[in-house]
Amino acid sequence: MEELEKMKKSLIDEIERRIEDKIIENTNAQLIIKLINSAESINEAIMIGELGTTYKRTGLHFDKRFEKLTNTIKYLKKNEELSFKDNNTDIKHKLIIGDNYDALLNLLITHRNKIDVIYIDPPYSKDKMGGFAEMNYENSLTRDNLLSMLYPRLLLAKELLNKENGVIFCSIDDRNQAYVKCLFDEIFGEIGFLFAAPRITKKGGKSTTTIQKNHDYVLAYAMPGNEIIFSLDELDDSSYNLEDEYVEERGKYKLNQCLDYDSLSYSKSLDYPIEIEGNIIYPGGDYDKYKARQAGDYKKSDWAWRWGKDKFKFGLENNFVVVKNGKNGKPRIYTKTYLNCSIEKNDNGEFYIKYNDKAGKYYTTLSFMENDCSNDFGKKELDKIFKNSNDLFKNPKPVNLISKLIKMSCTKKDAIILDFFAGSGTTAQAVLELNREDKGKRQFILCTNNEVTSMNPNGIAYDVTSKRLKRIMTGKCYDGNENFDWIRNNEPYGDGLNVYEIETVANFESTIGKTPFDVIDETSYELPKFSNIKDKIEWICSNFEITERNIESDNEWKNRMEEK
Ligand SMILES: C[S@@+](CC[C@H](N)C(=O)[O-])C[C@H]1O[C@@H](n2cnc3c(N)ncnc32)[C@H](O)[C@@H]1O
Repeated sequence: MEELEKMKKSLIDEIERRIEDKIIENTNAQLIIKLINSAESINEAIMIGELGTTYKRTGLHFDKRFEKLTNTIKYLKKNEELSFKDNNTDIKHKLIIGDNYDALLNLLITHRNKIDVIYIDPPYSKDKMGGFAEMNYENSLTRDNLLSMLYPRLLLAKELLNKENGVIFCSIDDRNQAYVKCLFDEIFGEIGFLFAAPRITKKGGKSTTTIQKNHDYVLAYAMPGNEIIFSLDELDDSSYNLEDEYVEERGKYKLNQCLDYDSLSYSKSLDYPIEIEGNIIYPGGDYDKYKARQAGDYKKSDWAWRWGKDKFKFGLENNFVVVKNGKNGKPRIYTKTYLNCSIEKNDNGEFYIKYNDKAGKYYTTLSFMENDCSNDFGKKELDKIFKNSNDLFKNPKPVNLISKLIKMSCTKKDAIILDFFAGSGTTAQAVLELNREDKGKRQFILCTNNEVTSMNPNGIAYDVTSKRLKRIMTGKCYDGNENFDWIRNNEPYGDGLNVYEIETVANFESTIGKTPFDVIDETSYELPKFSNIKDKIEWICSNFEITERNIESDNEWKNRMEEK
């Protein structure tokens, strides 16, 4: 019930904002608020809330398809056969098999505001949406269907995100990105928008008369009102190959080009003589030309130093400067760039040495255009785990794309990362790889439906996702076999996995042995076993909103449990 009330409040807040923003008439809004208040389930409340959101201020208008309302409870049931433990660690990751709408509702019970990073890669293009789509949309993936499917799921995702540092990323193709961005703007607010970056899908292409499409997009949003501090990307430090007596604190260094240059706009204040080791040196190395420039005879771009007098004095005193003889025997000045520090100016205009924890380069919106973020890379990675992976799963995302997104946006080494369109499980591999790199204890939660395809007769979750995780985490297949390429060059990641299925039970006490109280196991929700039946009934009724509650059925159930 508590979850239902929270959802009602957030929907009503949104409707009230829309009155203020003049998107919806006050009288209509009041009626919708009244109906939201009378809703009996989260599902119903969201559907009613949508009546007030059909026309978007952004101009986004789509025909909403609603989730089917049912009077059954969807709950998590552990699949013991697919789950596995690792006695060396207490990290337990999760894979939830079933529709992600139900998975997200169940996660609200345990993970409200606890998820740090969400990555999703919803089906677009020609993908099918599996059982969910078959039931709701006759499996046709129109834009209306895509937006209708995403809308209630993103509302739930927002409830799961950590309010302070939560971020959500969404991969989307160029055809849909503008629409999906509008939907995200509606839900997270434009204030939460971080970036829409292109991502390379493939390098080349077939010869064709139409333009070759070689990128899709990653949309990024933060929880509204929060500033996300992005970390630095790792630097290729192979060019920092020199060291001096400061190597311990400053790290290795590389020599920059000469301090003088003639390719930028001339500045008189940067054109001065430097006296060093008994020599007087002029920019460009020629005294007569220096005199001429000082007398006003200079070109638009002409010789000067890169550093002003004060910075040079500071650099020289602090050993950031090296003098070497040039080819003509004349001395030339070079500056050092150290890995771990740089010369900076404070607010009073004084220079100081700024030490970085770790040198790095800034991520940019072009950071995902490197080949290791392409689909080709993703395919090669999956090929190492499954022979002919392309038959089993088309276009898995590459591990590097997702690990970059996590690394750049979240410094917590025990972050919880959720992917609710998990497909082949790339997000899990990205989390495990990051943990290996920095000894982190991040946890992944994957949700994916069990879409059946001609090559996956048991469904993708059974035939691909769970198998991939078992192989890379334990080094073995479920049948004990080690017959896959990946294990020849990699150590298994370790850690345990709990696999859950979404199961259904009627919300009322009817058939013996099939009440919510019989089948829902609190240990699937990270709780110890209840020591008494009353607590269990209370917990189920307050967390599974449509449980039909009547004292008689409680009593009957209690009697039955006691008989067992
Ligand atoms: C584009 S793929 C994701 C690929 C994934 N990023 C990877 O690297 O393997 C989308 C996946 O979401 C699944 N899916 C679609 N609709 C879903 C739903 N309503 N609930 C759960 N999973 C869904 C599809 O079966 C498909 O496997």
